[in-house]
Formats: sequence, structure tokens, C-alpha cells
Amino acid sequence: MKGFLITFEGIDGSGKTTQANLLYEYLKVKGFDVSLYRDPGGTPLAEKIREVIMEFSMDPITELLLFESARSSLVWEKILPDLCADKVVIMDRFIDSSMAYQGYAKEINLGTVSILNHIAIRGRKPDLTIILNVNLETALSRIRHKKTKFETPELLKKVRDAYILIAHSEKERDIRIVDANRDKEEVFKEIVCIVEDKLGV
Ligand SMILES: Nc1ncnc2c1ncn2[C@@H]1O[C@H](COP(=O)(O)OP(=O)(O)OP(=O)(O)O)[C@@H](O)[C@H]1O
Ligand SMILES: [Mg+2]
Repeated sequence: MKGFLITFEGIDGSGKTTQANLLYEYLKVKGFDVSLYRDPGGTPLAEKIREVIMEFSMDPITELLLFESARSSLVWEKILPDLCADKVVIMDRFIDSSMAYQGYAKEINLGTVSILNHIAIRGRKPDLTIILNVNLETALSRIRHKKTKFETPELLKKVRDAYILIAHSEKERDIRIVDANRDKEEVFKEIVCIVEDKLGV
């Protein structure tokens, strides 16, 4: 399979954007051809859908379909071409976010979420997924200053538990749970070990 797809997952405030950026810069300096996208986002259409999701309150199915539309756009326009060009693609959230938030936490049928994920990604699953596992209190304290809407502590607790279930149920995938309660540098050190081992450097 060409290219290498790495996804960062975890609850709000777990450090996904921080670690994805650190890894992007690190791999670039190492000479890798690398791209970094956020999901939802990464194409003009997907960024617009992101704004719509942030602006409106909606039922979970409508929300799921919007997330999947944005993901489909990003996969088709950016991720698949990048992987074909043998790039390392780093994702700030991806399919497991839909499974954890809309599936497990908001109780949409897991099979339905799985099928929609499969359609959106054209079957191209991540090669490596890093779940940043953090205590609820730590995550909430990190995002307290944020003005944008974020989920309730009750929902985030469900999402946190869901990510652990996903890691243990998706046996055919490589999903690593990383303790993200530690400081940024320590977390990053572990991520570099995992990624370098997978990339064979
Ligand atoms: N290991 C860490 N220790 C302390 N603070 C951290 C750590 N990682 C990230 N932060 C800080 O916590 C805040 C949230 O981090 P970040 O934006 O990376 O999380 P996120 O998982 O992307 O959140 P969201 O899901 O809301 O996008 C930021 O201000 C960031 O600088
Ligand atoms: Mg983020």
C-alpha cells in the first residue's frame, strides 16, 4: 500500500492538534514528504461544513452526515492523492471520532457509522492511529479558555471510554493508546518512537 496514514484521536483538549503539529514539523525536518489536515476541514468545502457544524445545533444523524460529507471531500481531494504520491499524511481526527462521538456517545447504530465511514474513506483505513488518553479533569482544564462550543463532561466521559473500546475492538488495525496526561514533550517522545518504528527509520 502506498503512502502512510497516521490519525490522532482523543477527547477535546487531549492534545491532538498540539501533537499532530509537532509530528508534522518533526517529519518534515527528517526529510519526509508529509501533509497535515484536520477533519472536518482541509478543503474549501470541508472547511465550510466545519463552520456549519460549529454554528448550528442539530440532531446526531444530521451531524454525522455532515462530518462524513466533509471527510469524503477531504479524502477524495487531498488524502488519496497524497497517499498515491507516497506521502505521510497526518490527520487531526478521522473516522474514530465519528465512531466515538456519534456512535458510542450519541448512540447512533455503530454499524451505520461504520458503513458511512467506509464510504467516506473509500475503504482506505489508517495505517496507524494514536489515541491520546487523558483524564477528564485535565482535558477540561486545558480547554476552559476556549470560546468555541464543546461537549459536556458527561459526553466526553462516554467518548473517552469509547476510544478505549475502539482500540480493543479494531483488531486488524494498529491503534496505540498514549498517556496524554504528561507534559507535551514527554507525550511527543513516545509518539516519535511509535511512528519511527512503523516507518522503519
Ligand atoms: N501535554 C500537555 N500538557 C499541557 N497542556 C497541553 C498538553 N497538550 C496540549 N496542551 C494544551 O492544551 C490545549 C488543548 O490542546 P490541543 O488544542 O492540542 O487539544 P485538542 O485535542 O486538539 O483539542 P480539540 O479537540 O478541542 O481540538 C492547548 O492550549 C495546548 O497548548
Ligand atoms: Mg484540536
